[in-house]
Amino acid sequence: MTTLGTPLSPSATKVMLLGSGELGKEVLIALQRLGVETIAVDRYENAPGHQVAHRAHTIAMSDPAQLKALIERERPMLVVPEIEAIATPMLQELEAAGVVRVIPTARAARLTMDREGIRRLAAETLGLPTSPYRFCDSLEELQAAIDGGIGYPCIVKPVMSSSGKGQSKIDGPADVQKAWDYAMAGGRVSHGRIIVEGFIRFDYEITLLTVRALGADGAVETHFCDPIGHVQVSGDYVESWQPHPMSPVAQQKSREIAQAITENLGGQGLFGVELFVAGDQVWFSEVSPRPHDTGMVTMATQWQNEFELHARAILGLPVDTTLKSPGASAVIYGGMEAQGIAFDGVDEALRVPGTELRLFGKPESFSKRRMGVALARHADVEQARTNAKLAASKVKPRRA
Ligand SMILES: Nc1ncnc2c1ncn2[C@@H]1O[C@H](COP(=O)(O)OP(=O)(O)O)[C@@H](O)[C@H]1O
Ligand SMILES: [Mg+2]
Repeated sequence: MTTLGTPLSPSATKVMLLGSGELGKEVLIALQRLGVETIAVDRYENAPGHQVAHRAHTIAMSDPAQLKALIERERPMLVVPEIEAIATPMLQELEAAGVVRVIPTARAARLTMDREGIRRLAAETLGLPTSPYRFCDSLEELQAAIDGGIGYPCIVKPVMSSSGKGQSKIDGPADVQKAWDYAMAGGRVSHGRIIVEGFIRFDYEITLLTVRALGADGAVETHFCDPIGHVQVSGDYVESWQPHPMSPVAQQKSREIAQAITENLGGQGLFGVELFVAGDQVWFSEVSPRPHDTGMVTMATQWQNEFELHARAILGLPVDTTLKSPGASAVIYGGMEAQGIAFDGVDEALRVPGTELRLFGKPESFSKRRMGVALARHADVEQARTNAKLAASKVKPRRA
């Protein structure tokens, strides 16, 4: 049985988000609707989630001492990581000591913060199909890995990075040095380790949102959302849509892969399982043990969007992954470096039929920073994609 309390009272059900960007903000809103007391944490002031929580804190989440002190002070029932760059060994320690429960598990947060942890688990422990890969600590090792079987083309990524940072494709010997230097500049921590992966010529890629939630008997059940198709430019998502059509065989294999990886990571919550598909063949790429950026489309397409599903699952509540309508999302970038920007054309954007907007409220814009997203609903998913992109293009960021 799940009991929820009253926020700001002794009965409060307290949940702390570690990372309070646009995804955390929506999780916080979903929790607020259930009367949960919310604590938003990020590394900068006035992050999107800070603006909708009961309390906001600004700390270096990668610093174990700061993280421990804040968790011990706030004493949340649940700690929900929204980003990868967190002192996850400290979360493991606190979880082991019974101080907090980490969503979905501290081990999952630790394994997925590093491409090596999750790739070795998927490919070597679970035997899931992945691209061929090698881990390298120097330019010489990278060249040897390519010559020794990875071949061209291939992709180089820092083991600690996200959103395509430091990631590049190598088409031939002339690109190797450039890719290495780019990875060294783009990683989150400069310990110089990379993964090189053979390039998969997929027909399409999907995110399979997978939810581990409690059933009526108290046992964890796995639920799947309809597949989300997406387009990535330089490793960063620019548009997504749902559902993406798949052959029954590819859909079945995708679910089996998602079931295997999420079952191993354990706990309760929503996961974004990234898969590459060619015909009936499916490769595991990576997994987020939390809502996924391409899943923002579910704010238009599902009865319970991915944030509500996450909120429900972590609280032990039942979930419903049913599609409401096909739809699409398109990202709105800042396009400039400036503080406190303004957005013109919001009215024109919303005049596109069946659309909605989310402006995240980020205090600072960068040229490639995601500042908002346009959402569109339409019975025809291709029309939804057109409408989402049209609405996004009508929103014009400018200096205030
Ligand atoms: N081995 C690969 N073969 C082909 N495309 C790839 C491969 N690895 C990554 N990509 C492309 O780059 C995108 C980002 O890579 P990913 O590993 O998901 O990095 P991130 O953690 O930054 O999201 C993928 O969604 C896919 O489009
Ligand atoms: Mg990815």
